[in-house]
Amino acid sequence: MANDNNVLIGIIGGSGLYHLDNLTQITTVNPETPWGFPSSSITIAALPSGTRVAFLARHGQGHVIPPSSVPGRANIAALKSLGVRAIIAFSAVGSLREEISPGSFVLPTQIIDRTKGIRPASFFEGTSIVAHAMFGDPFSGKLVKWLEERVRKALDAEGKGAKLFTGKCIVCMEGPQFSTRAESLMYRQWGGDLINMSVLPEAKLAREAELSYALIATATDYDSWRDQSESVTAADVFKTLKGNAETSRLVAATILDDLQSALTGEDAHVFLEEIGSMQFSIMP
Ligand code: ADE
Repeated sequence: MANDNNVLIGIIGGSGLYHLDNLTQITTVNPETPWGFPSSSITIAALPSGTRVAFLARHGQGHVIPPSSVPGRANIAALKSLGVRAIIAFSAVGSLREEISPGSFVLPTQIIDRTKGIRPASFFEGTSIVAHAMFGDPFSGKLVKWLEERVRKALDAEGKGAKLFTGKCIVCMEGPQFSTRAESLMYRQWGGDLINMSVLPEAKLAREAELSYALIATATDYDSWRDQSESVTAADVFKTLKGNAETSRLVAATILDDLQSALTGEDAHVFLEEIGSMQFSIMP
């Protein structure tokens, strides 16, 4: 359902990222959905060019909602109700690989779910509809590919040496405690490269809502797998959050106009590949 605040791009800010830069705020909205209210009111803002974005702080303003309690369904439904077609989500993550040092940016392409059964992960839960969304590729491949070049350019322009990794696998775990050393080592053996507490059920719900969804993950720590290092603490995460959030704001400022053009241009369908994807998801 589109309305006066119709906006195509949704940004979900993770830990440390509670606003974007260089935007003129137009309004804030707090739509009630059948799944309740979103994590925070949603800021609708415009870039100098007029490109509009809807910004939602996943953990609420001031980080008051723990990962396990984020109202994922209300968040995705609220963004969709504003007309959003593509979501760029940001998230602080732990690194399970030596080369992905804190401060690195990553565009993951796979997810391992360690939250299964704990968080409401489907809009169809509690209904009599049985629906199976395809989720083999949990992020929007075209959008991730498109982002790769732009995010790399933005990081290079910033000149602080932040690296970008692509094609990685993120483990989504249940918090609030961090992993044990044994778990952290196991996730590496499973093929995990990153770990967070927030990409699910968000990515699943975006797919059910037929929204394009990509995650820009920012590494804050080395989790707990390194023999010679202390295991991760909240203080480690906080140390890198601020710098990562500043770089994330710069990345967002650099890509949003281009993304709006991509979403409204002749090849928009390429970026909106999820539209119609639920058509055959319900058993006849
Ligand atoms: N978010 C940031 N660092 C993390 C870690 N090590 N484990 C889970 N979530 C995280």
